[in-house]
Amino acid sequence: MISHKYEIEPMINRRNFILGSTITSITAFLGLKEPVTAKSSNVTTEIKPIVISTWNHGLPANEAAWKIIKSGGKAIDAVETGAKVPEADPEANSVGYGGYPDRDGNVTLDACIMDETGNCGSVSYLQHIKHPISVARKVMDDTPHVMLSGAGALEFALQKGFKKEELLTDKSKAAWKKWLEKSEYSPIINRENHDTIGLLAIDQKGDISGACTTSGLAWKLHGRVGDSPIIGAGMFTDNDIGGAVATGMGEAVMKTLGTFLIVELMRGGMTPQEACEEAVGRIAAKQDYKSFQIGYLAINKAGEYGAYSIQKGFNYALHKNGDNQMHKANYLNK
Ligand code: GLY
Repeated sequence: MISHKYEIEPMINRRNFILGSTITSITAFLGLKEPVTAKSSNVTTEIKPIVISTWNHGLPANEAAWKIIKSGGKAIDAVETGAKVPEADPEANSVGYGGYPDRDGNVTLDACIMDETGNCGSVSYLQHIKHPISVARKVMDDTPHVMLSGAGALEFALQKGFKKEELLTDKSKAAWKKWLEKSEYSPIINRENHDTIGLLAIDQKGDISGACTTSGLAWKLHGRVGDSPIIGAGMFTDNDIGGAVATGMGEAVMKTLGTFLIVELMRGGMTPQEACEEAVGRIAAKQDYKSFQIGYLAINKAGEYGAYSIQKGFNYALHKNGDNQMHKANYLNK
């Protein structure tokens, strides 16, 4: 099914991965007596709780998410809680508070979240709210809609009790002023190993949820919205199959609905790794991919995972078997 003419070196050998997984250590770690199983369609799958997320800022995000999974909480609460960590971190200049502004100096935020029932919520072009992921969650939980944008999203957030804040830190303002000296726009391929934070989690019941949040491309045109709030572009989950998140140049992801594509490829039988590679290949086949970065992460119902990017440098945090570690993704442009 993989039709593109580029070399593929799957990071995970599916057979070895399955044979090598240590079921007993996972269940022991979680304090479960017997391996738990979940039934999806006609397939009974052993539950393997996992949290996976993009870039270096995924490590503390995973830690916060895993606390919820470990105590028997829901994947949807885990991904929201995890996403809030880099959102609140002023040093993470690609997400939430401290995020780099657009070229006019406005910090505008995009986020989406999706639960195990297929329900989802998102916000785009939201300003002055530190935790857009939680506003997206409120859109999902408290409204009949999926997406709120701009002034309406802000009004909704304030009605829900969120605080209006200045999100442009002195450091981000200084970086913007420096950029203004030349005002040259060129996307940064791996912004100091952080960009959109995307998280996927499987909880102890075997339910899958995902979340994604970003301040978008630095110095973007005022009003630009990326892939991160678009369900099926920045993030998509299907509790019967798995989930995927995207990071990098949002426009390329939107043109291919990358995360929806990955989940559908897994539905068709691909491993998460194969599906991530195929989705990157779809971009490479039709777009000038050498000038930008895209990174995908995916998990399936069996707790297998995959990661792949266009350029070198994409890394991800994986919390599995009680261990939270950074890993390097394999990539296309060698
Ligand atoms: N992937 C984040 C953005 O393009 O806005």
